[in-house]
Amino acid sequence: MKKNLLNIQRPRLNRRNASIRDLVCETHISVSDLIYPVFIQEGQKVRHSIQTLPGQSRLSVDELIRDIPKFLNLGLKTLALFPKISESLKTTDAIEAINPKGFLPTAVRKIKKEFPELVLVTDVALDPYSSDGHDGLVKNGQVLNDETVEILAKMAAIQAEAGADFVGPSDMMDGRIKAIRQKLETEGHTSTGIIAYTAKYASHFYGPFREALDSAPRAGDKKTYQMDYRNSNEALRELKLDISEGADLVMVKPALSYLDIIKTFKMKSLVPVAAYNVSGEYAMVKATSAMGAADHDGLMVEILTSIKRAGADVIFTYHALEMARWLSQSRS
Ligand code: PBG
Repeated sequence: MKKNLLNIQRPRLNRRNASIRDLVCETHISVSDLIYPVFIQEGQKVRHSIQTLPGQSRLSVDELIRDIPKFLNLGLKTLALFPKISESLKTTDAIEAINPKGFLPTAVRKIKKEFPELVLVTDVALDPYSSDGHDGLVKNGQVLNDETVEILAKMAAIQAEAGADFVGPSDMMDGRIKAIRQKLETEGHTSTGIIAYTAKYASHFYGPFREALDSAPRAGDKKTYQMDYRNSNEALRELKLDISEGADLVMVKPALSYLDIIKTFKMKSLVPVAAYNVSGEYAMVKATSAMGAADHDGLMVEILTSIKRAGADVIFTYHALEMARWLSQSRS
């Protein structure tokens, strides 16, 4: 009896009370880890709520500029911009994507002029500009790789010229990180970083985002370029490529069903790892809490903490603003 007592292990001792739990807690999430994705559109004084993303709206740039001081006051310093492009500007060649005076570069200039300290991430992919709703050019039902990469590189250079701090290629074409890096270098944009959407899976969790931008593919799906969720080895292959091609951060997207991939990236990556807590994941939290099945903030904090625990250094999340508020109000 006595002999056994010497071997006793009491893991509960570290969970005894809130102070001790905080003392030994391994994962700390901070507002400085968060990137807030925002939807923007043409016009003035527009706040168009997005039905499947409760609490999020598509804003005209003047409205976004009005909101930014609130973000900065809470310590939220990085935004990812996603533009909705007017239907009349969408074409099969997605040419509006490389208009230096287009809606997005103009928006970046306006925002940077008012808030030079705000970090801006711009999206590099053709879907908002393509009448086919694909991230690349479509010809005879095929998504073309090399022709798309050429446009993406130009698009990235235009965004850099406008003042983006990071460009975020979300398209999954082969070789685009290298092409973008080379283009940025040759055009002298040596202070623009690249957040590569490295392991972006063909996912059912993107629905609300596509509603927000009206950017769903008009035919087919994105499975010939986005990854197959049954695989993890190809994520490692993409990781190796993106780092060697010059990515400054590597992303896993979505986050919640891909925590294993985030963890592997954290172990293998030489650059910081980002995770994108995508629109469908956010919508699930809203739906679950709206039906009274769980506490909203509890779900939000648990999910974001799990993404951090898995190894994400940076999290793109639509919860960014409410999480920033939560962090400023509570301490555990
Ligand atoms: C498209 C893009 C998508 C998202 C970010 N960039 C959707 C898609 O690939 O169809 C999804 C983000 C989200 O669901 O929150 N380039």
